[in-house]
Amino acid sequence: MVALGVLASCGKVIPTDGRIDVIPLPNQLSVEEGNFTLKPSTKIVQTFDVEGMSYALAFWNDVMLDVVGRELTVIPEKQAQRGAINILQDTSMESEQYRLTVSDGSIEISAATANGVFYAFQTLRQMLPVAAFNEAGSRIEIPACKIDDKPHFEYRGFMFDMGRHIFSVQEVKDMIDILAMHKINKFHWHLTEDQGWRIEIKKYPKLTEIGSIRKSSPIGKNKGQDGKPYGGFFTQDEVRDVVKYATERFITVIPEIEIPGHSVAALASYPELGCTGEQYEVATWWGVDDRVICPGKELAFTFWEDVLSEVIELFPSEYIHIGGDECPKTYWKKCPDCQARMRREGLKSEEELQAYVTKRVEKFLNERGRKIIGWDEILQGGVTKSATVMAWRGPQYGIEAAKLGNHVIMSPKTNCYLDYYQSRDTKNEPFSIGGYVPVEQAYALDPYKELNTEEQKYVLGVQGNLWTEYISKYDHAQYMTLPRMSAIAEVGWSYKNKNYESFLERLPHLSDLFDVYGYNYAKHVLSEKQTPAAEAEQK
Ligand code: ACM
Ligand code: ZN
Repeated sequence: MVALGVLASCGKVIPTDGRIDVIPLPNQLSVEEGNFTLKPSTKIVQTFDVEGMSYALAFWNDVMLDVVGRELTVIPEKQAQRGAINILQDTSMESEQYRLTVSDGSIEISAATANGVFYAFQTLRQMLPVAAFNEAGSRIEIPACKIDDKPHFEYRGFMFDMGRHIFSVQEVKDMIDILAMHKINKFHWHLTEDQGWRIEIKKYPKLTEIGSIRKSSPIGKNKGQDGKPYGGFFTQDEVRDVVKYATERFITVIPEIEIPGHSVAALASYPELGCTGEQYEVATWWGVDDRVICPGKELAFTFWEDVLSEVIELFPSEYIHIGGDECPKTYWKKCPDCQARMRREGLKSEEELQAYVTKRVEKFLNERGRKIIGWDEILQGGVTKSATVMAWRGPQYGIEAAKLGNHVIMSPKTNCYLDYYQSRDTKNEPFSIGGYVPVEQAYALDPYKELNTEEQKYVLGVQGNLWTEYISKYDHAQYMTLPRMSAIAEVGWSYKNKNYESFLERLPHLSDLFDVYGYNYAKHVLSEKQTPAAEAEQK
């Protein structure tokens, strides 16, 4: 974007601003004397090669195109060189760990993996003076430092709901870039809903022919209908493209296929999957729908297994999210097939019937080398030890799961729901589902609360969730995500040394980078007018 400027301003020095404001906060960081001067002629000395190294280098060279106007030359060498960015192998390090040393003479990045190198480059990008992105210069100062860094939690996720509103492949990729900037490593892609089925399944073409389009959408909070058809879906080629894009940014895409609730779009496509066989339309209202898939019928399991068979071909992720939330039992209670299944299997309640579904689907996936994640309702009616529970209704469900010995991902709505309001001043906010999660509250999440050391081991990490009933435009999605996702990313990465005051001091620098990339973000905590959450709560 600045290539012409670089030619015109050859030799211009962009000085460091002297600050090393990195989000998420590195484990160990010491500021040293001096600066490294990056130039178009700076070389990258690559002393080892491992899978994915080209992705890490491609990321950095994209940044270099913007700031020095050209890609740096990569030279394979055995030894580090003075004046270069040296990539060194340290096999004693963990998979996401890196060490970054910047001095007058050179930059050294040490890691065991390409992922570590990628994260070192993410950190290094945040250390560039922001002016370098705007002014175009050919000598850019980076402050000397020593950083030793690795994540606290192995699972650092973000969920994006495509069911209520769908976003383009380009927008999804843009969000993946935002996540990579925060060293987020899981992109939970919510692909099926009452209001729309968003992934092509070859064996069930009606899922997208019929299920991807609703004839109308709600106005406001179910106040009326806009009467406009709305739809869209991702072809399998597009899915592969997104998965590849994420892989190149060290992000695993975890697909979610909702089982057995939130399935009206599937029922509209294949009515025989329901308890009554009635023909429904794709849902046009927001909320929890009573109409769910009928586990009394063997056909339902054939459907789920067929769909998941195609899904696991598309997504290499070890984890597959099978939904499980908000499944009313209204129809099951009246359905002869559901009741017969319960008698045959000795199930004492409809909750146990849902647990039967979860267990059968889990077994199917386990046999194919995959593991399940389910929303915390999978705890009801009994859950296998091997299922991972995603706590959303509140931290207590995550605590319950960890105490049972189940792996847990903490994404309680109290801290992690990015569709909730970020300010009390709701009149000046885009219309939202409700709730109140200011940045400080997202930051305050303690995934280990009430867990002893043994139980803490079951907490895999944290996730921010962006539901999109009231979010139809991508710049709005960014606004809801940033900077609350920056806060959640720091909880996930820097759990042990996180500090909200320090986060607020570092955030302006990251928001400058948001401006560089044209990201839309909420500025409440960046302006003096902000009311701290604690105060607002007391009023
Ligand atoms: C959810 O918010 N229903 C997981
Ligand atoms: Zn039924």
